[in-house]
Amino acid sequence: MRVLVTGGAGFIGANFVLRTLATRPDATLRVLDKLTYAANPETLARVADRVELVQGDVADAGLVDRLVAESDLVVHFAAESHNDNSLADPSAFVQTNLVGTYTLLEAVRRHGVRYHHISTDEVYGDLELDDPARFTEQTAYNPSSPYSSTKAGSDLLVRAWVRSFGVRATISNCSNNYGPYQHIEKFIPRQITNVLSGIRPKLYGDGRNIRDWIHVDDHNDAVWRIIDKGQIGETYLIGADGEVDNRTVVETILELLGQRADAFDFVTDRPGHDRRYAIDSTRLRTELGWQPRYLDFRSGLSATIDWYRDNAAWWQPGKESVEANYAVTERVTG
Ligand code: NAD
Ligand code: DAU
Repeated sequence: MRVLVTGGAGFIGANFVLRTLATRPDATLRVLDKLTYAANPETLARVADRVELVQGDVADAGLVDRLVAESDLVVHFAAESHNDNSLADPSAFVQTNLVGTYTLLEAVRRHGVRYHHISTDEVYGDLELDDPARFTEQTAYNPSSPYSSTKAGSDLLVRAWVRSFGVRATISNCSNNYGPYQHIEKFIPRQITNVLSGIRPKLYGDGRNIRDWIHVDDHNDAVWRIIDKGQIGETYLIGADGEVDNRTVVETILELLGQRADAFDFVTDRPGHDRRYAIDSTRLRTELGWQPRYLDFRSGLSATIDWYRDNAAWWQPGKESVEANYAVTERVTG
């Protein structure tokens, strides 16, 4: 099976490539990645002899047409993925997440190629902290940020291309991922690398926002399960019952790194900050038989801390500029 992985030099896409190489001897992998600031080509360097990396834009119709024509399956991870950046400048989000997805859909339509669309639980908006509800495949779309609204729009394009043009596509909406190779602008790796660099972790607002954490390998195993067994045209939610509030995450990181649990700063909140995400993944579990393997968040977090401690050369070159970027708007509030 010839698989085209878009965004395969980013966090989840690169983990997908590495895991596929380890578990799917039937797959031949090619990555299409623009190599934006979010990519780290080092991640794929050790498998360069087994994976072709094409540097290019998912919105480049000519390039995409050629690559899709040579593929049996497209797994579309490429996106502008960081909410904070989308609040500073949404333009790249509209271009990559909407125009890029449209470009891929037109190509898979022309060539009759199977397509899997990677999306997020953020398309459903947020929940109150005390709401017993969780997101399901029936929850109405209600995105809050420029990032999540462009992801929601891209999901709707996929649904329309399935219904109107018979494109063979599935969609998955996953909760917050953690694990190795995540960009240090994101919450967990930012706080781990802060502590490792002698910087106090930074909590937005009151620190009580909840995210539903899942290990990146559990996400990618679910993606393969959907590709193998999912029904064309259907959406599957991916989550591992991992609800934890941000303050608890930071306190756990500090504790695991041998620091005082209160050695963090509260900083300015994110505008429009979603309060809580929570996924009900019953459909994926009952219809497709998927189960997460990483059931203990604390030990998954501990392994992730070890990875960042052991791989400083992977993240250290970018640390100063990421923190300088945050410092432009971030103010310590407590
Ligand atoms: P990331 O930012 O780490 O990686 C994105 C990759 O896409 C980078 O390698 C980047 O160079 C590439 N890219 C960006 N614009 C491109 C373009 N125009 N053409 C080609 N490549 C381009 O993101 P991630 O966290 O790995 O997320 C991957 C996907 O998973 C995204 O679609 C995101 O919406 C979705 N998702 C992420 C999470 C999460 O917790 N990180 C959860 C659910 C869904
Ligand atoms: O839910 C899935 C989504 O998870 C994905 O679609 C996104 O691509 C991914 O970036 C992630 O979005 P979040 O906005 O939830 O992730 P982020 O890592 O930016 O922040 C997680 C939580 O931590 C959020 O409540 C904001 C908070 N935060 C973040 C940073 C960077 C802090 O308190 N301090 C920080 O320094």
